[in-house]
Amino acid sequence: MEAALNSTDLLVFEVNREKFEVPEIDPSTTLLEFLRSRTRFKSVKLGCGEGGCGACVVLLTKYDPVLKQVENITVSSCLTLLCSVNGCSITTSESLGNSKDGFHPIHQRFAGFHASQCGFCTPGMCMSLFSALVNAEKRPSLDASPGDSKLTVSEAEKAISGNLCRCTGYRPIADACKSFAADVDMEDLGINSFWEKGDSKEVRVSKLPAYNPRDHAFPYTEVFKDECLAARLLNSNKHSWYSPVTIEELQSMLQSDKNGTRIKLIVGNTGDGYYKETEKYDKYIDLRYIPELSVVRMDNSGIEFGATLSISKVVQYLREKSKANFDTGEDMVFTKIAEHMEKIASGFIRNSASLGGNLLMAQKKYFPSDIVTLLLAAGSSVSILTGDKRENITMEKFLGRPPLDPKSVLLSVHIPFLEPTRVDGSVQTSSRLLFETYRAAPRPLGNALPYLNAAFLADISLNKNGILVNSVRFAFGAYGTEHSIRARKVEKYLAGKILNVGVIDETVKLVKGDVVSKDGTSHAAYRSSLAVGFVFAFLSSFPSVASSISGNSSEELNGSLLERAAEFNECGNISPNGNLPLLSSAKQVIKSCRDYYPVGEPMPKYGAAIQASGEAVYVDDIPSPPNCLHGALIYSTKPLARVKSISFKSNSQANEVAAVISVKDIPGEGENIGSLAMFGPEPLFAGDVTRCAGDLLAFVVAATQKNANLAAKMALVDYDTEGLDPPILTVEEAVQKSSFFDVPPFMHPAKVGDFSKGMAEADHKILSAEEELGPVSLAFGRVMEVCETISICVMLFVGFWESSLGNKIKLGSQYYFYMETQTALAVPDEDNCMVVYSSSQCPEFANRVIARCLGFPEHNVRVITRRVGGGFGGKGLKSMPVATACALAAHKLRRPVRIYLGRKTDMIIAGGRHPMKITYSVGFKSNGKITALHLDILINAGITQDISPAMPTFIIGAFKKYNWGALSFDIKVCKTNLISRSAMRGPGDVQGTFIAEAIIEHVASLLSMEVDTVREINFHTYESLKLFYRSASGESIEYTLPSIWDKVERTSSFVQRVKTTEQFNQVNIWLKRGISRVPIVHEVLVRPTPGKVSILSDGSIVVEVGGIEMGQGLSTKVQQVTAYALSLIQCDGTEDLVEKVRVLQTDTLSLVQGGFTAGSTTSESSCEAARLCCQVLVERLAPLKEKLQEEMGSVKWDVLILQSNQQNVNLAANAYFIPDSSSSQYLNYGAAVEVNILTGETTILRADIVYDCGQSMNPAVDLGQIEGAFVQGLGFFMLEEYLHNSDGLVVTDSTWTYKIPTIDTIPKQFNVEVLNSGHHHKRVLSSKASGEPPLLLAVSVHCATRAAIKAARKQLKSWGGSEGTDLVFQLDVPATMPVVKQFCGLDTVETYLKYLLSKS
Ligand SMILES: Cc1cc2nc3c(=O)[nH]c(=O)nc-3n(C[C@H](O)[C@H](O)[C@H](O)COP(=O)(O)OP(=O)(O)OC[C@H]3O[C@@H](n4cnc5c(N)ncnc54)[C@H](O)[C@@H]3O)c2cc1C
Ligand code: FES
Ligand code: FES
Repeated sequence: MEAALNSTDLLVFEVNREKFEVPEIDPSTTLLEFLRSRTRFKSVKLGCGEGGCGACVVLLTKYDPVLKQVENITVSSCLTLLCSVNGCSITTSESLGNSKDGFHPIHQRFAGFHASQCGFCTPGMCMSLFSALVNAEKRPSLDASPGDSKLTVSEAEKAISGNLCRCTGYRPIADACKSFAADVDMEDLGINSFWEKGDSKEVRVSKLPAYNPRDHAFPYTEVFKDECLAARLLNSNKHSWYSPVTIEELQSMLQSDKNGTRIKLIVGNTGDGYYKETEKYDKYIDLRYIPELSVVRMDNSGIEFGATLSISKVVQYLREKSKANFDTGEDMVFTKIAEHMEKIASGFIRNSASLGGNLLMAQKKYFPSDIVTLLLAAGSSVSILTGDKRENITMEKFLGRPPLDPKSVLLSVHIPFLEPTRVDGSVQTSSRLLFETYRAAPRPLGNALPYLNAAFLADISLNKNGILVNSVRFAFGAYGTEHSIRARKVEKYLAGKILNVGVIDETVKLVKGDVVSKDGTSHAAYRSSLAVGFVFAFLSSFPSVASSISGNSSEELNGSLLERAAEFNECGNISPNGNLPLLSSAKQVIKSCRDYYPVGEPMPKYGAAIQASGEAVYVDDIPSPPNCLHGALIYSTKPLARVKSISFKSNSQANEVAAVISVKDIPGEGENIGSLAMFGPEPLFAGDVTRCAGDLLAFVVAATQKNANLAAKMALVDYDTEGLDPPILTVEEAVQKSSFFDVPPFMHPAKVGDFSKGMAEADHKILSAEEELGPVSLAFGRVMEVCETISICVMLFVGFWESSLGNKIKLGSQYYFYMETQTALAVPDEDNCMVVYSSSQCPEFANRVIARCLGFPEHNVRVITRRVGGGFGGKGLKSMPVATACALAAHKLRRPVRIYLGRKTDMIIAGGRHPMKITYSVGFKSNGKITALHLDILINAGITQDISPAMPTFIIGAFKKYNWGALSFDIKVCKTNLISRSAMRGPGDVQGTFIAEAIIEHVASLLSMEVDTVREINFHTYESLKLFYRSASGESIEYTLPSIWDKVERTSSFVQRVKTTEQFNQVNIWLKRGISRVPIVHEVLVRPTPGKVSILSDGSIVVEVGGIEMGQGLSTKVQQVTAYALSLIQCDGTEDLVEKVRVLQTDTLSLVQGGFTAGSTTSESSCEAARLCCQVLVERLAPLKEKLQEEMGSVKWDVLILQSNQQNVNLAANAYFIPDSSSSQYLNYGAAVEVNILTGETTILRADIVYDCGQSMNPAVDLGQIEGAFVQGLGFFMLEEYLHNSDGLVVTDSTWTYKIPTIDTIPKQFNVEVLNSGHHHKRVLSSKASGEPPLLLAVSVHCATRAAIKAARKQLKSWGGSEGTDLVFQLDVPATMPVVKQFCGLDTVETYLKYLLSKS
């Protein structure tokens, strides 16, 4: 047999042109595991391990035996099984180019466009782009200009739509990608290091690193191609992997197996990204080599797709087919199916995910499939093989059967050609088929499961009465149902009906009855209202289609049609902005300042190119030392319970475990300490009783990371809760039990003015029951009293009480989602020492904690951090237990131990942002001026203090941005049995800013005033600023907020756009827009930081600083400042000093007192520390320089240093920068959003940011921080839903459930101006921080969404709606699609139809 002849036992493939021959391997090994543990290619990163982030993307080149061609596709190496790459070639980013052989233009452009910050996502991004370029080349035409590539702008943007980046905000990445596009307008590309202002288009093109597809594209060696063409198939007992080439061979493999053999049929293995199977199989059967399963057959009845065809191939085929045969029913069906399928997962998943795999997941495991819904509506059928029996059954039957037997094989899927029915009648027109598909998902372009999907087919014709519905097929799926369904009742009802409002109304009612989520489904009512919305949108499109059918029909018919169309036109525009480009335009305005050259230059980020090529070394890229073990954390899933024992599910698992380290293993002289903050130490492991879900119980150590992870996952923890109090999970419970953390007196924020006096001056009041009035019943009485006495307020207060929660705000948490999860490597050293490599924002504290845990003096521990793959606060305290557990295990086992946390564990133990509940009382004048405000804030701090006692200061710091008249507050830091919350970018400030805006909006709504006016009226004067901010307010000239406010109005054409927004809302029923501009004030604290600068004999320089490089550009700024400060020696050759500066990794024994890299100011303080060192060096060098100058006329830097060396000048200097005051910062911005009322989808049309950066040290770096922080804030306010179960265990614990922004959710137009507000003598070289404050600006998107919702609610009211029409409401954070839709009205369609019916 052919297969036997060509089969091999040896797994052979190529990685970056190196051949690998693997004689034996566990078949569940993924390509990623192999690359990272068995090769030197570390550019492939693990971000999620489930296909959801793109950090692991590689290019796979293989020979397609069916198409007889070589194909290049991206795949996620975390899901691709190694055995399935037999005969393939793999390309990773380091082989495109590198620091030794020269970088690839992709790497150079990523660096030059400032598209890499922490760099952890960058190699994956580069590979996604590279694949798009390689594949564009295969196209025959399209004039290639800029980079000589055939890529289009749209393809360039879409190439990276499945890749996540948590740092950049995507805009610069999009620019780097688009710079390769043939149709790009150079003017549209943003700030970069290649060209200068004023360069012509031609010059710009010439300055870009040249890209030539011939030189840069081909990743496949000819030798390997021959090998691959020989197609030796892996059929191996050793690997337990089989590749049958015929159905008969497959049948005999399946049948020959004894019962009990666990068999897994495999195609792309992407299903594992969802199910994450832990079961081990005896046999893996790769179905991809059976030609019958991968062919496409077309006959008169339709198209048949082999089950192993990838989704990408099916899409490609459907598109080609529909191009060939435009304007037929099937053409429409195929096009729509293809369009919809392109929103499934991401390109790199679709390339390996098979059609059959998707159907099987839906059939066997109730996966919420899109494809099944599409195929149901298209009337498809499937062909199945069970034993020797082949069957063709309809999709509906297939779904309705019990889960398919593991030995049954899905062979193919048949999509029939659809013919419109002929209609008999007195007036007859040909009928027309309509096919439309829908999906509502948090990300428009995919990489997110839908809340609901739907596909509708209708056959309609015209008769004299109007539009006749001959038949319909309505399929719905993914709404919390076992599998997709046909809405039979609706279909039956509509068949034969003439479409009118009454019929739509009845249809909608039936849809609601058919689409019902099963119990426990989240957002069930929302999903059902989506179904209504989609059906309504579909039926509303009939008149326009019908008018195209009418063509030559009689006048009578056309007349009646026009009437129908007019009726339906009232439905308004219901198609969302589906076809807008992802990022239609972006403008960046920066002003560099050359006072301190090269400080102020927009230099590319230090190390960006090696980050792109994947050569940058993160902790987990450090090769494992000999005998290294790997660890994983076992955490509690219960909030408060005794742990009786920990065991493993099976003996084999237990055998693979090298050790289980727990509190008992802490040496006698050591301490159970896992982290240390200013408020004290926190334990590493839970004691006898767990304190929260996520509490660390033990650290399991095994030979590989995979085994350790598996052991941790399969650990059985025996809990006992008898006799224990119930856990405290909410702030309300904490209040009841008086469970609070103390806030030290020096941490108490100061109140301002006299609250009672301020209230007495108010014309109107919103009163907080708890704070002002005691018990609620009393409060009600008092408010009514107020209402009676202040007549103007009566209506308003009634409104307030009706919306009862009007003055209560709840804010949830946010997970860091750094792309690199927590990681550490601990290596025991001689004489009881321990070297720990940790991805940490505060190695100094990690050093202390490890020393205390092990009972060592601090000098026995050395913590080294070179770079961090994203921190955002999460690698502060939360990195310490991870490093400490590793060190403890390494100490006990006398072997190196490392850990790279799985994403799920990371999400569960990370904690994230502080949730809180806020109630307020506010008094205000009739003109909107607020006279007094009192806040009651309950912060849910979780189980330990962490930084929580500082939260009141942070919240109030940002909250004081308005002049509240008098301000008082009562802030309680609640101790609960939840995982401890920690600092996350802008901790407290984000919430403070939000609360301020919510109150302003509340006041404006009650007074029916423009929110913008109320904001302005409450702006600080410099006098009030001083009152609120005291010394941090700086000098009056530094109060730039009012001028920035005006500037944003001008540059964003705010007033004009407010008018346009109003006009838009008047004419659009189903889309509403809102616009908002929001000021922020952010108080920052500069911390002491050490530095050390050393000059080597050749004049090159090394710098060490306390701050850690985590993507924020700290090293780049330090490099620039060092070059500037040393250039003050004023000798020749210092112009390019910046290239001689290398910033070293942080080493806690080399530089002590490093402190925390946090609070946005560590770049500044590290720069200042370096500057102080340079000052010392310049002073030391100056006498010699003077002398040499006198002797030689001029002195070169190199000569000066050489001479200094010879004359024993000390060329190393240390400094410890201690700031003398705090500083504050003022910013401002405006944004516009569009809300789709049918789905709750929010599109951010435009954002304009004006940001005061002082005199930016590096405007490109600061711009990156501004955009990145804004987009992270966007995630908090709009997307990132952070949920627990009833035990407080985080359940949004994967990329499936936790959605950070992607390129398709950022503003369509994204304009940023980095304002140079000139000289600030108190700040480091006049600069201001940029890391955290811009995150606060994203509150404007939320405010604009609220404005759009208001417009929707007004409209709902005009239709006679009652529920949800109150204009005073608190919009939840995050304002996800279900939330927005709920606030717009879940029954808008029904209310509208009722309204139409009442009119007729
Ligand atoms: C990140 C991500 C996002 C996704 N988003 C979506 C989405 O939005 N909408 C959507 O519809 N889908 C989505 N998917 C699902 C995706 O379409 C499926 O994972 C994929 O199609 C499965 O194909 P596969 O070849 O990888 O199957 P595999 O993982 O190889 O197999 C899946 C299962 O099917 C069995 N199997 C496969 N082929 C056959 C066959 N021919 N006969 C019998 N048994 C077979 C396997 O034994 C296994 O049990 C997503 C997947 C990922 C990873
Ligand atoms: S690590 Fe593979 S997609 Fe995230
Ligand atoms: S640069 Fe993209 S995740 Fe950090």
